[in-house]
Amino acid sequence: MAKKPKVLVTRVLPRPGMDLLKLHFDLDVNYEDQVIPREVLKEKIGNKEGLVCLLTDNIDAAIIARALRLKIIANYAVGFNNIDLVEASKRKIPVTNTPDVLTEATADLTFGLLISISRRIVEADHFLRAGTFKGWAPELLLGADVHEKTLGIIGLGRIGRAVVRRARGFDMRIIYYDNERLPVDAEKELGVQYCALTDLLREADYVSIHAPLSERTHHLLSTSEFELMKETAYVINAARGPIVDEKALVRAIKDKKIAGCALDVYENEPRVESELIRMNNVVLVPHIGSASVETRTKMALMVAENVIAVLVRKERPPNVVNGQIYGQ
Ligand code: GLV
Ligand code: GLV
Repeated sequence: MAKKPKVLVTRVLPRPGMDLLKLHFDLDVNYEDQVIPREVLKEKIGNKEGLVCLLTDNIDAAIIARALRLKIIANYAVGFNNIDLVEASKRKIPVTNTPDVLTEATADLTFGLLISISRRIVEADHFLRAGTFKGWAPELLLGADVHEKTLGIIGLGRIGRAVVRRARGFDMRIIYYDNERLPVDAEKELGVQYCALTDLLREADYVSIHAPLSERTHHLLSTSEFELMKETAYVINAARGPIVDEKALVRAIKDKKIAGCALDVYENEPRVESELIRMNNVVLVPHIGSASVETRTKMALMVAENVIAVLVRKERPPNVVNGQIYGQ
């Protein structure tokens, strides 16, 4: 039997994905329950044909330069801003992600964040656990209604649309901003209205981000954007932290330019602005958008399928993000 191709896995993934990978490859797995140290990654990548990595691994030019035999970079995430796509493409290394399978889970979490911040669910939970619940009261923990409010979606991709579907069930008015506008028919069918970012910020009760991180979206929301928002509005972010200027966000909340925020992602993960942690009118969760058993399992299988496509079947991987290397 031919030798199995060597694949580096930077962190243990859900079992079905690991099993599938093991079947086909000679695996080198980081079994530590932490991000693989950069030096270790640098050293181990040299003789590998496949790399399975996470959004917390910085696969930059220096790493790719060491990866002399590498034929695929399979990212266990839909976002791939952690990978230097230009360098990978120069070397004709396909980079793959895990789209679609995590769309609904991320939209669920987004909606959970939206309702939590609005109806003060986390704060109310803390209140009760502190033993302060003395009985029903007319003005205890009043929040804001979600239904019939205006939701502003920034980035109407797969996840943005899945959030729209949920919002429609709450009879929300939905406006969106994207660098590409949908055809009018598609907007009608989805029940969304396009507007300029400035108008979206002025009108929305919730500004929810669903765009990828790029140079264009870095600090898309900063001081001047928060100035435009309603004082009663909330920012929801389950996309990528650096799309929001976190320090400016803290100032906007402190200065009551906006009502608060609910975040799944942070500008310098895993660090979170300490002032955010002390605020009541924020909900903070640790990057768990896709974190359901079902979804993470599907993502692990998808990652394995992409590596198998390239290293076993010698095919174009199904979820390649730099398809131009195949000459299209
Ligand atoms: C998670 O943030 C992902 O990009 O999959
Ligand atoms: C990501 O999957 C998106 O298109 O929103």
